[in-house]
Amino acid sequence: MEKIILAIDTSCDETSVAVTRGVKILANVVWSQAAQHAKFGGVMPSLAQRMHEERIDWVINKAMKSSGLKVQEINAIAVTEGPGLAIALGVGIKKAKELAEKLKIPLIGINHIEGHLLSPLAVSRLREENFSGVTFPVLGLVVSGGHTELVLIKEIGKYEILAMTTDDALGEALDKAARMIGLGYPGGAIMEKMARLGNSKTYPLPLPMSNNLIRNRMSYSGLKTAMYRLVEKTGKDLSKKQICNLAATFQNRAFQHLERVVFQSIRDSGNGHVNNLFVGGGVAANLELRKRLRKLTTEFGMKVSFPYSNKMCGDNAGMIGVVAGFKIQNAEFKALEIDEIDRKPRWKIEQV
Ligand code: KG4
Ligand code: ZN
Repeated sequence: MEKIILAIDTSCDETSVAVTRGVKILANVVWSQAAQHAKFGGVMPSLAQRMHEERIDWVINKAMKSSGLKVQEINAIAVTEGPGLAIALGVGIKKAKELAEKLKIPLIGINHIEGHLLSPLAVSRLREENFSGVTFPVLGLVVSGGHTELVLIKEIGKYEILAMTTDDALGEALDKAARMIGLGYPGGAIMEKMARLGNSKTYPLPLPMSNNLIRNRMSYSGLKTAMYRLVEKTGKDLSKKQICNLAATFQNRAFQHLERVVFQSIRDSGNGHVNNLFVGGGVAANLELRKRLRKLTTEFGMKVSFPYSNKMCGDNAGMIGVVAGFKIQNAEFKALEIDEIDRKPRWKIEQV
């Protein structure tokens, strides 16, 4: 019987706790602090730490209640060790250690990016089916507020980074552009709505790195600067139509840049070598991006898989529990001493 895991993620500005069994998500509670950080236009680490501390017990109780299970039925605790904000990660790790010691069960440290990468494998508790297996290698794309990485998943637990951004992550760039046109923070989702009503060809914005095709690199800082100048030139009081057109133009260029890198990676990996693309991270909720990635993968005869819900795209502990489930199943995880679990703010996926 698959083990029941209680998973915790406090890597950024979401306090999240999940209960999982294999790839099944029995409960997944996400308490977002985004509204509290909005006035600063980004995440304030000390505020994140304080709010995680205030909320974590409440989120744990809510997840347990929603799972319908008793604490004694939990077989292991999983916690995000990194990457993320050190002082925020510390809150989840401390709580996970307390729980593991109290319940006398193993504690497993998980990489947050591995969670996003494997999040398309998660299955809702409302569904009958379970994990039916996947043929590896699979290409994995993480597009979040903190990361834009294209990774070759050779098998679960073996990763090679194929491409990444050298500066802003895609979500971060969308958030900054959204702020420039008065859409608040975080603005990726509202920008998607505005972009749907706009015309992406109204304004001139450059395609990032169009003269400098380094295959494994993405960069959003130039596009962001160009957007800043464009917004300044367009005027102070933007009309709704102008906002929609600016949103559509920026989103289009940002996605085109990503599509090109994904296209090149698939082509270079040799046709037929990789048959599936997994996409995870907050920006994976974007329907326009999904449409484009579906089209691109269809051209190569590949399948593309997204997480089953928007909650499963953004930061959540469900994906952390899923990874821990595989580690237990593959006997990959050796019971570490509790003291060996620690914050790893810059933990790379290739080092797991
Ligand atoms: O995965 P996530 O919750 O956090 C990190 O690990 O960073 O991703 C948050 C990011 C934010 O930048 C947010 O604006 C973006 O995901 N996002 C979206 C959409 N929903 C969330 N971006 C574009 N379209 C969306 N629908
Ligand atoms: Zn994340």
